[in-house]
Amino acid sequence: MRLPLAVLALALAASGADTESHWCYQIQVQNSQHNCLGPAQWGGECQKSQQSPIDIVTNKARLDYNLGDFSFSGYDKKHSRLVQNNGHSVMVSLEPDVTINGGGLATLYQATQLHLHWSEDLNNGSEHALDGERFAMEMHIVHQKGIEGGAQNAKDQIAVLAFLVEEGSEHNDGFRVLVEALDKIPKPGMNVTMEASSLTDLLPQEDKLKHYFRYQGSLTTPTCDETVVWTVFKERIQLHKDQILAFSQKLYYDEEQKLKMTDNVRPLQQLGDRLVYTSQAPAQLLPVSLPALLLPTLTYLLANVL
Ligand SMILES: *[C@@H]1O[C@H](CO)[C@@H](O)[C@H](O)[C@H]1NC(C)=O
Ligand SMILES: *[C@@H]1O[C@H](CO)[C@@H](O)[C@H](O)[C@H]1NC(C)=O
Ligand SMILES: [Zn+2]
Repeated sequence: MRLPLAVLALALAASGADTESHWCYQIQVQNSQHNCLGPAQWGGECQKSQQSPIDIVTNKARLDYNLGDFSFSGYDKKHSRLVQNNGHSVMVSLEPDVTINGGGLATLYQATQLHLHWSEDLNNGSEHALDGERFAMEMHIVHQKGIEGGAQNAKDQIAVLAFLVEEGSEHNDGFRVLVEALDKIPKPGMNVTMEASSLTDLLPQEDKLKHYFRYQGSLTTPTCDETVVWTVFKERIQLHKDQILAFSQKLYYDEEQKLKMTDNVRPLQQLGDRLVYTSQAPAQLLPVSLPALLLPTLTYLLANVL
């Protein structure tokens, strides 16, 4: 009588302690033999109202002249980094001397890790959407506010740079090292040290990173803390289709390698009463908006002078 009770107590304690690690994506809910909590059941702050990702309606984004250029530091340094299959994504550990500043951020932020989201459908793997359109993948470079940056757990504790990925006609050589490493980490918990490479290798050219969207949101995985300043760049990373599909083909959610890691994407969340800001008005709006601005002004001047 005693043993089963003790075992039961242990099992309950284990499942209690494990609650957050039991979260999973919708595709795992549909395919899983065992229970896991899909996005609708995620705990923490996940059911609150300032969540991510969102659909960005580009012509409603408010122009903010404070959203200047970023300065990236350590992004171009070649480093052999640890990459792991963490059961939800592929994650590359980054060093605290990789930092960002500027970009309308209040202070310096230090990189902690980067990871990606993807699908086998090339229009279904990004978390954010632009005017309802989703992309093949999305890469998140996660940064923490530096120690001098003020209060912990503030709304701006974390700054995530989000890069949308679309299919391109050429192999992207900057991604070769990461894609090759996927072969060595098929199962959750596995890790490997990658060949030396830099973050710059993964990104669009720096002069194309002036245009971005900014809003206040959350982590897109439990516990969905509402402490993230989001930056979603307009310029897309281009990867060859084979490179995009390698993520779904080589990685698995489970030890048994039954369920391919794919569609590791949280559903879109409501914007609610938040605003999305943009660093620069879309160029194509200028010819329309300039006369539209000038005409009323001229009319006003004429009416008041005459
Ligand atoms: C990497 O994998 C090894 C071997 O499985 C393991 O001992 C180690 O703890 C892992 N390292 C990290 C940082 O996860
Ligand atoms: C897109 O991905 C979601 C999971 O993120 C899935 O539920 C949905 O069926 C997919 N849509 C298509 C058209 O494949
Ligand atoms: Zn992410």
